[in-house]
Amino acid sequence: MPTPTLHVSQHPAVLHKLAVLRDEDTEPKKFREVVRELSWLLGYEALADVSVKPREIVTPMEPMIASELGERIGLIPILRAGLGMVDAMLELMPTAQVWHLGLFRDERTLRPVEYYNKLPDSASVDLCLILDPMLATGGSATAAIEVLKKWGAVRIKLVNLIAAPEGVEAVSSAHPDVEIYCAALDRGLNEKGYIQPGLGDAGDRQFGTGKAE
Ligand code: PRP
Ligand code: URA
Repeated sequence: MPTPTLHVSQHPAVLHKLAVLRDEDTEPKKFREVVRELSWLLGYEALADVSVKPREIVTPMEPMIASELGERIGLIPILRAGLGMVDAMLELMPTAQVWHLGLFRDERTLRPVEYYNKLPDSASVDLCLILDPMLATGGSATAAIEVLKKWGAVRIKLVNLIAAPEGVEAVSSAHPDVEIYCAALDRGLNEKGYIQPGLGDAGDRQFGTGKAE
């Protein structure tokens, strides 16, 4: 059954850049560049329904009522891999606040472990965007959403580059109010919890920390 909260981009520019991202020959520098470009494109789609408010300006011709973002936005990158998505999102939403959340996936249990949390004392924004390139089992995303809801967030969107059906199912059944934006919905997970065909380990590929040959 289709998941109403899932938005998979069909934009040709997204499809083109995804191929570069997935390619095992793409080096970390190029990989980071493409993570950034894809984040910009997905952020653009994820923000399409954000409200704007009027802003009085004067053009060289005459005064006019223009528009500016009307919602306070919080960006929550999931460390480490989500870091690569922050700059592009800040270009789109220069007034957004950034709150880092450190989660890593225990390789044996595949359960998320929280190790860092830089959320302010209380929720002070209208919309939270969780940034993480990969949605695999959905454990990390679900944990992040729970942290944000406990803290008081009311409107949350999840932005991923690649999602697995298992992760989409986990997030959408536990949190049917959270919209998921991604560039691709892949086939599924392998026995180690990696997305197939995926792109490998998004953190390692960005930061060059893969296993030594
Ligand atoms: C990756 C990815 C997600 C998580 C997804 O992070 O960036 O946070 O795995 O998997 P899940 O949906 O099964 O929870 P990882 O734990 O490898 O940490 P890293 O970003 O520090 O490399
Ligand atoms: N985390 C990654 O970085 N890649 C996957 O395929 C799954 C989890």
